Amino acid sequence: MTTVDLPLLPLGRGSDRLSERGVECPGDLPAVSDPDLVARARAAKAALGDRVFVLGHHYQRDEVIQFADVTGDSFKLARDAAARPDAEYVVFCGVHFMAESADILTGPQQQVVLPDLAAGCSMADMARLAQVEDAWDALVDAGVAEQVVPVTYMNSSADIKAFCGRNGGAVCTSSNADVALEWAFEQRGPGTKVLFLPDQHLGRNTAVLKMGMSLDDCVVWNPHLPGGGLTVEQLRDARMVLWKGHCSVHGRFTADVVDRVREEVPGVTVLVHPECTHDVVTRADLVGSTEFIIKTVEAAEPGTAWAIGTELNLVKRLAAAHPDKRVVFLDKTVCYCSTMNRIDLPHLVWALESLVAGTVVNRIQVDADTEHWAKVALQRMLDLPGRSHRD
Ligand code: 13P
Ligand code: SF4
Repeated sequence: MTTVDLPLLPLGRGSDRLSERGVECPGDLPAVSDPDLVARARAAKAALGDRVFVLGHHYQRDEVIQFADVTGDSFKLARDAAARPDAEYVVFCGVHFMAESADILTGPQQQVVLPDLAAGCSMADMARLAQVEDAWDALVDAGVAEQVVPVTYMNSSADIKAFCGRNGGAVCTSSNADVALEWAFEQRGPGTKVLFLPDQHLGRNTAVLKMGMSLDDCVVWNPHLPGGGLTVEQLRDARMVLWKGHCSVHGRFTADVVDRVREEVPGVTVLVHPECTHDVVTRADLVGSTEFIIKTVEAAEPGTAWAIGTELNLVKRLAAAHPDKRVVFLDKTVCYCSTMNRIDLPHLVWALESLVAGTVVNRIQVDADTEHWAKVALQRMLDLPGRSHRD
């Protein structure tokens, strides 16, 4: 087994180019207290005009999302980025793996900027290429690799997506994981298995709740244990080999808070993201991607009550946008996604003003070979027949 050390770097210090983790943010950032930040962002955007396209993930701060030309979940933003070949600069207000996907899906003349390079994703960091290659070797040794289709969640680094592309697999997002799994299980006949990276919860929830598998069809590969902590028989019997990764935000919701909110808010409908644990998802009323959550609350009758289990910036905006409905956060002890929150107004202003001055800062550029194979896996996702029935 390859040893991969994963000490967390202090955000914004040091560098690790192979990881989603924080690297330095060079240059002079405007002060957070600068009263002109909004006016400066507005002026820089106006000066750049159609040359810049600003994408904002739903988990971004209000101060940033107000400058997004489009907002969306990771699936929608990947498509939106690909649909603007005329924009010279794509400023991605989201996290590193999303900016990488935007770079892969945009043309070579377009430059993708991530306003703060410390905006990584702890889940994406839980699957490193060397670890995934070790797991694949174990599947080869167990004599099952030919039956395995690797599927990676969008929330993974470009080299993991490229691994999937090279090995006949695809990317999925939380809004099309079921469609991607249906596709994957058709690829190698009746004995097909899926290696699902890196979010065990999305993999398990989709396999069991949408594909009709049992929990016993799923095993968890722990990259920190020899042989993933699994026997050869377990690998041979499993239909889903789930990577032991999780989201550090959604993974914090617990099953008992679902029961508690039902006691506290009469008639509440509990709506959660599929990155939550299986216990939470099975206790909830509805489960779906960020876009599904937004559309469901938008379509709800006035006077209805909703407890939402996803990132706090989004839940607060939903509550503010729907004063005729009661929208509460599922668990007050769960906080913002700290890496999504790295993108703040000073970083956005700094990135935009640098572009106006002719300097491209924090460019995200995926190398040509990784880009080629990651694009194969992304394209397989974009070619899937429609999105989940729930969206
Ligand atoms: P979606 O944008 O696919 O809903 O994923 C949620 C998430 O955790 C993004 O980091
Ligand atoms: Fe990663 Fe979770 Fe933050 Fe999304 S919400 S960027 S999966 S840590």
